[in-house]
Amino acid sequence: MARRKIVAGNWKMNKTPSEAVALVEELKPLVASDDVDVVFCVPAIDIIPVAEAVKGTNIQVGAENMYFEEKGAYTGEISPAMLVDAGVKYVVLGHSERREYFAETDATVNKKVLKAFEHGITPIMCCGETLEQREQGVTMDFIRQQVKIGLQNVTADQAKTMVIAYEPIWAIGTGKTATTEQAQEVCAGIRACIAEVYDEATAEAIRIQYGGSVNAATAPELFAQADIDGGLVGGAALKPDFGKIVNYK
Ligand code: 13P
Repeated sequence: MARRKIVAGNWKMNKTPSEAVALVEELKPLVASDDVDVVFCVPAIDIIPVAEAVKGTNIQVGAENMYFEEKGAYTGEISPAMLVDAGVKYVVLGHSERREYFAETDATVNKKVLKAFEHGITPIMCCGETLEQREQGVTMDFIRQQVKIGLQNVTADQAKTMVIAYEPIWAIGTGKTATTEQAQEVCAGIRACIAEVYDEATAEAIRIQYGGSVNAATAPELFAQADIDGGLVGGAALKPDFGKIVNYK
């Protein structure tokens, strides 16, 4: 069974609500596709206007983060129920920027992944090594740990529906895309890890994206790899280029 590709934009901390709607209007016709899932993961304050603007299109709305408690005294946080009520279908969890600047750990990512499933939101769980780790030859050891802890107590049936994004930290926002071979090698390693933790069927079903300076020029070769099921796109998701990435074939 062929896995359906999924191309998601991670807007990061860009676009005010009115700018967000303008960008959606610009990208709408460019990202139309029958065979790729298209997701716009946008800042929390943009979710409601973007959800309105994408109505009737193939675009689904994602969040960039979410808290792992139901509700209560957690000033500044956004709950899963709030996201669901606003029309969110996907949530990026454990992005390296959140790990680096906001003290996210594998354990908090795991709590968020479990909570997202409880509410029917599909997690896009991120993992990826630093340049130092790659040079030390511990890339796969590190990523296997991120993936295994992130997936603790996640059932096989849940894991089959989720997305894992492999984003080497040294390739994010640097213009330095991993080579196709590097990206495929790690995505295959992640799939092997899923097969060990669960089984072959789960490994075959789970979708694994590559992220890190993906652009219209690099997407076709990356997405053609056996274990790369699409991309998580930062900078290029804010430009018409995103339409070319979605329609990479
Ligand atoms: P860039 O595509 O800007 O490198 O960002 C990648 C990323 O972090 C997506 O989550």
